Amino acid sequence: MGIKHYDLEPQNAHAAKCVFKLDTPNTSYIMAVVDEDNFLGHIYYGSKLKDHDVTYLLRTGEAPFVPSKNNRDKCSFMDSFPMEYPGHGLGDYRDGCIDVISQEGHRGVSLSVVSHKICTGKPDLTGLPATFGGAGHCTTLEILCEDKALGLVVTLMYTAFEDVDVITRSVYVENASKKDLYLTKVLSACLDMDNKKFERMTLHGSWARERHIQRQKIGFGKYAVSSLRGEPGHQEHPFMALMTEGASQDAGEVYAVNFVYSGNFIVQEEVNQFDSVRLTMGINSEDFCWKLGTGEGFQAPEAVLVYSENGIGGMTRTFHDLYRNHLIRGEYKDKKRPVLINNWEATYFDFDTDKLLAIARQASELGIEMLVMDDGWFGNRDSDNRALGDWQVNEEKLKGGLDFLVKKVNKLGMKFGIWFEPEMISPDSDLYRNHPDWAIAIPGRRAALARNQYVLDITREEVRDYVYECVAGILRSANIEYVKWDMNRPLSDIGSAKLSADRQGELYHRYVLALYELQNRLTEEFPYLLLENCSGGGARFDPGMLYYSPQIWCSDDTDAIERLEIQEGTALIYPLSAMGAHVSDCPNHTVGRTTPFETRGYVALAGTFGYELDVTRIPEEDRKMIPSQIAMYHKYNDLVRSGDYYRIASYRENHRYDCYAVVSKDKKEALVTYIQVLNCPNYHSRRIYLKGLDPNMKYRIEGEEEEYYGETLMKAGIQVKNLWGDFKGRLYHLKAVL
Ligand code: GLA
Repeated sequence: MGIKHYDLEPQNAHAAKCVFKLDTPNTSYIMAVVDEDNFLGHIYYGSKLKDHDVTYLLRTGEAPFVPSKNNRDKCSFMDSFPMEYPGHGLGDYRDGCIDVISQEGHRGVSLSVVSHKICTGKPDLTGLPATFGGAGHCTTLEILCEDKALGLVVTLMYTAFEDVDVITRSVYVENASKKDLYLTKVLSACLDMDNKKFERMTLHGSWARERHIQRQKIGFGKYAVSSLRGEPGHQEHPFMALMTEGASQDAGEVYAVNFVYSGNFIVQEEVNQFDSVRLTMGINSEDFCWKLGTGEGFQAPEAVLVYSENGIGGMTRTFHDLYRNHLIRGEYKDKKRPVLINNWEATYFDFDTDKLLAIARQASELGIEMLVMDDGWFGNRDSDNRALGDWQVNEEKLKGGLDFLVKKVNKLGMKFGIWFEPEMISPDSDLYRNHPDWAIAIPGRRAALARNQYVLDITREEVRDYVYECVAGILRSANIEYVKWDMNRPLSDIGSAKLSADRQGELYHRYVLALYELQNRLTEEFPYLLLENCSGGGARFDPGMLYYSPQIWCSDDTDAIERLEIQEGTALIYPLSAMGAHVSDCPNHTVGRTTPFETRGYVALAGTFGYELDVTRIPEEDRKMIPSQIAMYHKYNDLVRSGDYYRIASYRENHRYDCYAVVSKDKKEALVTYIQVLNCPNYHSRRIYLKGLDPNMKYRIEGEEEEYYGETLMKAGIQVKNLWGDFKGRLYHLKAVL
C-alpha cells in the first residue's frame, strides 16, 4: 500500500521516464511522465496490480508517437494522449481541466512535471473542507508542474488511503510570473480511460424529490451535470459513476467521483473519436474568473475517486466508510443523536411558548429527547415574506424570552434546538432597510427574489461578522444544543458591492469559502453543538457540508414512500448516520398520501430519526406507538450508524417494494428493512436474498426459532409473507448464534 515512484530505464521503449503508483487495499492508480516535455499521462486505475511498468498502455510506441519522435503531429498526440491534468488550447480538443487568460489576453495552458514529493498523512486544504487521515491511514503525493510560458505553477495532490479504496485529488495553482493571470477554469480531477462500454449513474431531482438515480449508456460527445446556483442544488448532484455494462449492486466495475464542495460544480464525461472517455470534476468554470496576482495562489477543492470491482454496493460502502471515518468530525461523529421533535410541520409560523411547551410536555412523556424550534421565532417573522436578518427573539411569541423557554424544556428532561437561516436577508427587514448593499445584487438591476428573500454577501467581513454574532449571540444566551442551519434560496444576480471589477468573477467561490469560515467558527466556539445543515430540504447535501455537520436534512418531503427513492439516492454515497429523516403527520403535507405510522417509523430509522408533527394532535393510536418506535431507534441505531449498507431491492426499479440491510462490521448482527409499497393480488410469498452475512455463521431471525447459515440466507433467501395492504413494512433483525 502507499505511493511509490519508479525511475525507468532512459529511453524506455514507450518514452516514459518515471512512474507513480498509488495503491489502496484493493486498487492501483498508475501514472507516468513521458517525453521531453514531461507530460503526465494516466495509465491505469482499477483493481490492484503487482507490476508498475505498464507504460505500454500509454500507446506512445504507436502513431502519432510522442512529440520528440514526431513533432509534425503534436496536435494528434495532444488530442489523444490520456492526460492526467489536461490544459487547454494547445492541441487537446477535449475539455481540459485548467485555463488561464494572460495579461496580454492569451489563453492556453500545458503542464510539464518538474518535481514531486511523497509524504505520510494528508495536509489540510486551506479554507476548504477535505477528508483527513494521519500517518498510517494515508500517503500523499504532490507533483509539481509548470507552464513555463505563463509562469504558472500547478501542484497536483493525490492521497491514497490505506483502510479504504479511495484516492483523493486536489490542485493548487500559483502565479510565479511577474504579471497578473486570470484563472478561468480549475478543475480538481480528471480520469482519461478507454471506454469499457460504460453506463453512467447520476443523481437528479427538484425540491421535495432530491437525488433520484438516473442510469444511461454513454455515447460519443459530452454529458455534464452541473450547478450555477451557488450550492449543489436540489436539481443536480456533484457525483458521477461510470460502470461496466450491466453492473449490479454486487458485480461489475464502477468508477465514481464525488466533490467535497458546496458551491457551483461540474462533473462531465466526454467520449472522443477514439472511444476513450474523459471524466472531469471541479468548480464550474462558468461565471468563474479568479485573479492571480504575482505570488498569489488558488486552492481547488477536493475530488474523491472510488473504484469498485464489486459493483455499486462496493462503491457505496467505500464512500460510507470514507465519510464516517475521514470526513465527519466532532462530538457526534460516532454518537447516537437525540431523538428530536421539530415544530415546522406541526405549527409552521403559528406558535408561541405555550404551544411549544405543550408539544414538549407530551413529547417528553413519550421519550422524545429534544425540541427543535424551527422558523418563525425572531423579528416579525409571521410568514416567509419577512424578517430574515433580524435575529432578535420575538417576545410576543416567546413570552418570557428564549432562555425561559429553554429552561422549561430542559426541566422536562429535553434538550433544545433552534433554526437559523443566517445567509439570508428579507427586503422587509430592519437589516435590509439599514444595509441594502449587503444583499448580493448587480448595480442597476433589480435582483431576483426567491421565497421573497435575497442572499447576504457574506464574502464581506463586516457582513460575515454580523451574521456570526447573530447566531452565536443567541447560542450564548441559552442552553441550546442543536442548530438547524438552513439556506432557502439559490444565488443569482452575482454582484458584490465590495469586490473590484476584475474580481467579481470570484464571488461564487468566495461565498462558499465564507460559508465554510462561518461554520468553522461556529463549531470551534460551540464544539458540543449538534449542527444539522439544510437547504430547502436537501439542496446542499454534499461532503463539504458534512465536514461541519454530521447530519443534513435530506428533503422537505417526509412522505415515507417518496423518501424511499430520495434515501436510496442519498445512501448511494452518504452514510445513513448523515441523513436527516423524520416521522411526520398524515395526510403527508407534500403529497397528501396516508401511510401507516409504523411504516413512517421504519423509513425514518434509516436516517437520524426524529418527529416532525404536533404530537398533541395526532391520532391516539399513532401517539401510542411513539415509545416503542423510540425503543426501536435505541435498539438499532448503533448498527444503522456504523454498519455496512446493502441494497437488496429497489422500489424505484420494481415499482412494488423496497429492501435494504445494514450488517455490522463483524457480521454478527443485521437489520433488514422491507417496505411493501403496493400489494399485489394473488401472489406467493416473496423471496428475498440477503446480503453481506458471513456464509459460515449461523443466524436466527428475532422472533423465530430456526437457525440458518448465512450462506442459506444469502443464496436461498428468506420468504417474506404477503403483507395485507399498501405501504406496509417489516423489519428482520438477525443475530449470529454463537
Ligand atoms: C426549509 C426547511 C424546512 C423548514 C423551512 C422553514 O424549507 O427545509 O425544514 O425549516 O425551511 O422556513
